[in-house]
Amino acid sequence: MPQATFHFPNGFLWGTATAAYQVEGNNRNNNWSAWENEAGRIKDGAKAGLACDWWGGRWKEDFDRAAEAGQNALRLSVEWSRIQPAPDRWDQDALEHYRQMVRGLVERKMTPMVTLHHFTDPLWLYERGGWEDDATPALFNAFVAKTVEALKEYVNLWVTINEPNIYTALGYVIGLFPPGNPDARTAFKVYRNLLRGHAAAYRTIHSVQPQARVGVTINRTAFVPARRWFPPDVLLTRFFNWNLNEAYSAALTSGKLAFLFRRARVPEAAGTQDFIGLNYYDRRQLIFDPGARDQLYAQQQFPRGVEISQSGEFGNTPDGMYDALKWAKRFELPIIVTENGIEDEADGLRPRYLVENIHQMWHAVNISYPIKGYFHWTLVDNFEWARGWTQRFGLWGLDVATQARLKRKSADLYAAICKENGISSEVVQRYAPEIFGKLFPG
Ligand code: BGC
Repeated sequence: MPQATFHFPNGFLWGTATAAYQVEGNNRNNNWSAWENEAGRIKDGAKAGLACDWWGGRWKEDFDRAAEAGQNALRLSVEWSRIQPAPDRWDQDALEHYRQMVRGLVERKMTPMVTLHHFTDPLWLYERGGWEDDATPALFNAFVAKTVEALKEYVNLWVTINEPNIYTALGYVIGLFPPGNPDARTAFKVYRNLLRGHAAAYRTIHSVQPQARVGVTINRTAFVPARRWFPPDVLLTRFFNWNLNEAYSAALTSGKLAFLFRRARVPEAAGTQDFIGLNYYDRRQLIFDPGARDQLYAQQQFPRGVEISQSGEFGNTPDGMYDALKWAKRFELPIIVTENGIEDEADGLRPRYLVENIHQMWHAVNISYPIKGYFHWTLVDNFEWARGWTQRFGLWGLDVATQARLKRKSADLYAAICKENGISSEVVQRYAPEIFGKLFPG
């Protein structure tokens, strides 16, 4: 049997990614806590509740788990509504809580990556229109200044805004996220303000901390037409790829936003990234469906033969990871894979998904793509937004009622990769023998 290891460069960051609302518990002062309380918004009427109880202190045991499992980095987000519970109030205790957390990472020899906005907005901001309001970028910037000042001793890797493309698409185009208001004109306004907010935050962070590395994360779901010979599928795919995958990043390069057939100049956004934050989950086919108005006339499916997750909502399409990295390389900046993962409670598919996606990343690293790290989504099962608790993305499972963590075999597999700084044939043989021949042809 062939023996080999696919090595990664020294200093490569291996971690997991999390988000405040999904793990902290007891967040009651933001748009998502309001949304949760509206009937029919969350699958099975579920609530985030205690989530993984990080606010109650269980971050310590989870950070221990991550550190013992060889992770040398962790991505978490701070909750704006805790730090600024009202427009005229800053909560020093909340800032201190986050200081303890990021210090906790550094003490465990893990690099913290901090996201300043991950889908949630304080209730007071939401009630005055959230990112629809042109005053919001400046308000966000003030919050960023406070937070960065408080955490700068321990953090210099920042994500200003997580997935502005998904935030806008789900909140203002499809309506699955708050405010559930599909309206193209509003979506455009929100997108422009998310660019302005990012640009202001980028400069603020650098003025407080010149050595900081600052970026955004973009969720790149690669779309391909289901029928390449059928113009409606082709045009629809072009529309999706531009608006969802390209528009925001293009504006960060050119300072010009073209989104949902509208245009604006946002010159201050040009050149405001120190790295590309790439969230890659899978690749899908689009079928034009004139009856699916609420889905932007698109049915999504996976190519034949692709293994799909329990709910049918995610697929294992690792070649799409390579294409996404190829896209990211165009920007000539360091690349960090800030999210990649699959919902799989039984952990039958995840081992293959993990190995194959990381293997694609290795291919790219091997021909000198400037990839600096990989953050698996996620450490422990957590509150999956509108899907409530129905999807389990954790390396560790969570018993929501008892808070017990249940280690999945993927946790050991990922630990072996992190500790080796690579994928060895032995590890593949042990955890995903069914793909051994594919990775190590004899
Ligand atoms: C989001 C995460 C989410 C994950 C899985 C990403 O788009 O950033 O918050 O849990 O997808 O759905």
